[in-house]
Amino acid sequence: MKKLVIAFALAAAMQSQAMSAETPLERGTYLMKSIVACGNCHTPQTPTGPAAGMELAGQFLVDEPGFFKAFAPNITQDKETGIGNWTDEQIIAAIREGKRPDGTIIGPPMPIELYRNMSDTDVKAIVAYLRQVKPIKNVVEKSTYEIPLPPSYGPPVTQVPDVPRDDIVAYGAYLAGPAGHCIECHSPLVNGKPDIEHQLGVGGMSFPGPWGVSISANITPHEDGIAHYNDADLEKVIRTGVRPDGSRLLPPMGVYYYANISDEDMAALIAYLRQLEPKPSPE
Ligand code: HEC
Ligand code: HEC
Repeated sequence: MKKLVIAFALAAAMQSQAMSAETPLERGTYLMKSIVACGNCHTPQTPTGPAAGMELAGQFLVDEPGFFKAFAPNITQDKETGIGNWTDEQIIAAIREGKRPDGTIIGPPMPIELYRNMSDTDVKAIVAYLRQVKPIKNVVEKSTYEIPLPPSYGPPVTQVPDVPRDDIVAYGAYLAGPAGHCIECHSPLVNGKPDIEHQLGVGGMSFPGPWGVSISANITPHEDGIAHYNDADLEKVIRTGVRPDGSRLLPPMGVYYYANISDEDMAALIAYLRQLEPKPSPE
């Protein structure tokens, strides 16, 4: 027993050492190519995945008649058409507070309310990644909003600590919320906003596109949701977009990025989903 405890302590120490050895750029690269996946909105899509040579150059995103028509801007380092002139602090304020350097407010569907709780470590890591993305000159149309945007998303975000990874459910909640915004796409829209408060994870948001219309799935442990998946199948669906019956998930489910989620993070995500309140899909 004592030996086992020592072995665990040693493994934990080695792991935290490995974590602290990770540079911000390494962490940022991992996040951007896996769970965070800003490119799922900001990189132009082709039927076979993100357009080559256009990483984060912006694109038309979604038309919700009566609410908004949104374009994801160019967030490459181009100084004229991207964010090459913004300081690190300004980029962080855009991500966590939805505020541009000129004081205007960033509208949906950029998931600012969730990004407010993105940790200092992770948001800085994302900035480190953005700094080395190739500048691309690409003018993207401006979004239009028929709904009023808030004057702000809340008080300035000053410090957000890391969520400890040894609390696997809490860390999974962080990944599915502030980092990966899974719960935003997987909650139904009420008055143009995902109803995370009352209908977390029940799905039902619709996404029209060149693929037709996809509807986000119920990801609670209800029989309408993920109850029938064992962990291995669930992991495979999230990573590859292929269900056990061979059918494939449509966009914008970000399987192109989720293929790269680490085993540790995938286990935390699944542990989090498994303990959600089971709820039926909306009618
Ligand atoms: C679900 C889609 C979505 C995701 C995910 C997303 N964004 Fe956005 N982002 C948008 C949209 C749409 C806008 C523009 C909204 C508007 O016009 O007010 C925007 C605006 C921005 C802006 C302001 C740029 C400008 O020139 O006005 C920045 C910076 C930005 N996003 C960075 C990021 C980063 C970094 C991530 C990942 C951490 C991210 N976004 C994830 C949709 C998204
Ligand atoms: C941009 C929106 C979006 C985001 C972000 C997103 N999903 Fe999805 N997801 C969808 C849509 C849409 C579908 C349904 C696709 C279809 O039916 O073809 C889906 C399907 C799924 C399914 C398949 C269930 C089934 O068998 O039908 C699972 C599981 C899932 N998502 C989990 C996740 C997890 C975990 C995350 C975060 C890592 C996530 N999703 C992030 C939109 C999203």
